[in-house]
Amino acid sequence: MPQLKCFKDDNALNKYVMEKSLRQTKAQKGLMEATLKHPDNIMLGDPIVLQLTANLIRTIKAKKVLDVGVYTGASALSAAIALPDDGKVFALDITDEYVKIGRPFWKEEGIEHKIDLILAPALETLDKFIANGESGTFDFAFIDADKPNYDNYYEKCLILIRSGGIIAIDNTIWHNSVVDGSIPYGMVEWANAIKELNDKLKDDQRINISYLTIGDGLTLCFKNCYTEC
Ligand SMILES: C[S@@+](CC[C@H](N)C(=O)[O-])C[C@H]1O[C@@H](n2cnc3c(N)ncnc32)[C@H](O)[C@@H]1O
Repeated sequence: MPQLKCFKDDNALNKYVMEKSLRQTKAQKGLMEATLKHPDNIMLGDPIVLQLTANLIRTIKAKKVLDVGVYTGASALSAAIALPDDGKVFALDITDEYVKIGRPFWKEEGIEHKIDLILAPALETLDKFIANGESGTFDFAFIDADKPNYDNYYEKCLILIRSGGIIAIDNTIWHNSVVDGSIPYGMVEWANAIKELNDKLKDDQRINISYLTIGDGLTLCFKNCYTEC
């Protein structure tokens, strides 16, 4: 199965791109090194992808970010670094089993106060935000949790994100399965969920789209400023 993430790949071009553009703080490097010792390290967000999402967060002057799927906390850390001091990353996961590895690096970076870790099924948390009247108040969302729920996460994030905000959906190439028909990890439901969402996003007029072949695929959905979602 191809490993498309740059920290797994011995592909010369990936290496070159990392050498010439990756900017990580000491804490980010530490979190990545600690995570790479973990048996499930394939879940770690690709650093080139996370650098792009952090740059988008800065560019749109985001203050409220949704991080759907935390693992050891690399995406939450990069978003928190990009946010101003009064910004907040709402980091959603069902377990803190993995984030225990990353938390010391949040502290080392001095951004822990910008991360609100919420331990519950992410759909429940997103529904609570909607019920609390927070629709249209978030600036940016990074979707990177269980793939069968991707479409549900997308729909809820589309409600929660403001016009002109961005939803970044990770793993939309899913180990090349979208083109070679493979079933990564034998999980049919996961492979189908990615393909079905890709099909839907192509013609979704509520967003403008850029589908990037970096990492394991990153789809950027720019919430349309001119139509109601
Ligand atoms: C791919 S990892 C996230 C990687 C992380 N974004 C990063 O940059 O390293 C997926 C995470 O989603 C979490 N997850 C799985 N199902 C979930 C659910 N229903 N609700 C919330 N989190 C879930 C897992 O516990 C895991 O930590």
